[in-house]
This record gives sequence, C-alpha cells and structure tokens, in this order.
Amino acid sequence: MAIQIYAHRGYSAIAPENTMIAFQKAVDAGAHGLELDVHLTKDHEMVVIHDETLQRTTNGRGRVRNLSLEEVRRVDAGSWFGDDFQGERVPLLSEVVALAARDGLSLNIELKNNKIAYEGLERQVIAMLEDYDMINQTVISCFDHYSLRRVKEVCPKVDTAILYMANLFEPWEYARHVGVTSIHPYRPTVTREMLTKSHALNLPVRPFTINQEKEMRRLIDMGVDALITDNVKEALNELKNR
Ligand code: G3P
Ligand code: CA
Repeated sequence: MAIQIYAHRGYSAIAPENTMIAFQKAVDAGAHGLELDVHLTKDHEMVVIHDETLQRTTNGRGRVRNLSLEEVRRVDAGSWFGDDFQGERVPLLSEVVALAARDGLSLNIELKNNKIAYEGLERQVIAMLEDYDMINQTVISCFDHYSLRRVKEVCPKVDTAILYMANLFEPWEYARHVGVTSIHPYRPTVTREMLTKSHALNLPVRPFTINQEKEMRRLIDMGVDALITDNVKEALNELKNR
C-alpha cells in the first residue's frame, strides 16, 4: 500500500487543532487520513479535543469529564488560533467520522484514555464507526495499551496501534503480545531494522509527529507506512517528489 499522509489534529499548521475547519482543510489539501483525539463529557458524549481541559484550545475552562456536552459545545475553539476562526466548536466525534466517510478518508482515532479511564469509551467508539461503516477505514491508537486490548475484545477486526514515546525493546514483538495490528512510534525511534521486522510480521508503522521536511524524506525513504503530520501540504509534496 502507498504511503499515507495523516493530518494530525486536522491540518493543524494552518487551522485550530481538532476543529471542523482543520479537518475540512486537511480534506481540501488532499490528506489520506485524519488523526484526532477523543474524550468523554460528563454525560458520556464523545468529543474531539486533545487536552483533558478546555483552557489551552478554547475560551472555556474546566475538565471535559466534569462538563456536559452542552457546556463543552458552548465554548469557542477557534479564536485562540486567530480571529478568522472565531465560532469554531469542539466537534462531536460523529461529525468527523461523517466527514471522513463522505470524502473517503481514513481515520486515526486516538483514545485519550491514558490519563483518565473513560469507562466504555472503546465500545462507544466502535459503535459509532459501525454506524458510519468506517471500521475498515480506521486505526484506533492509544498510549494505554490495556485500552487497545479492550478495543479488540469489542471488535477484533478493527486496526489498533500502540502509541509510545520511549524506544521500546523489540516493539514488533511487544505489539504482537498486546494483540495490536499496527505500531505508532515516536519519530526518532524508527530505524530500518525496526521497519523490516515489523513488516515481516505484517505490522504497519506510522510515526508521529513529522513536521520537518528533512525528516519526512528520511522516513519516506526508509519505507514507513504513513506520516502523521501538522504540515499536510509539505508531506504530500515530499511524497510526490520521492
Ligand atoms: O497519534 C500520534 C499523536 O497524536 C500522539 O500525541 O499528544 O499529539 O496526541 P498527541
Ligand atoms: Ca493524538
């Protein structure tokens, strides 16, 4: 399969991360996939935001888990990035899944389950993907690898990926042990040996977050399966020119 470009939190270099305008701009630029982060509100609704709290990326305050959907949807998620983006909302997961389904993009849904245990999140995400017939176009990733086990229990056929920061000893063997079907490593830990061994075990490798063109070239030449990037156009150009 050709190398895929995933827009990290949407086209977040040019639009406020994890908003519908950022996802739409990624679609317009020609990204193959959308990466996004999911949390649960107090009333168990799935919303797309990176942090546990609203402060950094909205004009609101407080923890997503302590707020209702109505409270989360009331805040402005665009103004912090620039006046042009005023009025952007924290998206529902269903809005992003619908966009990807409509325009034929892949999804990388990151469950933000590693600091807060959101009970039932895995089951809710799978149900949403089934509603939009997007199971086969999605990879679910998480830094909490127990959560990925639960995903596979609910839906054995969905692609899952371990996320990790440190350089794991034999990540391909670890991935097999956890039962995931892909590897999403922190970018400097990718080596040729690691790619060769992962590919021999049919484990795609999609490093994050690749924003420098030099590193895009290095990883494309090494044979990664995807780049997760904020800079969608630069990555697509590098791919075209290799
Ligand atoms: O999917 C890789 C990457 O998104 C993980 O880190 O902090 O950007 O969610 P973060
Ligand atoms: Ca993420």
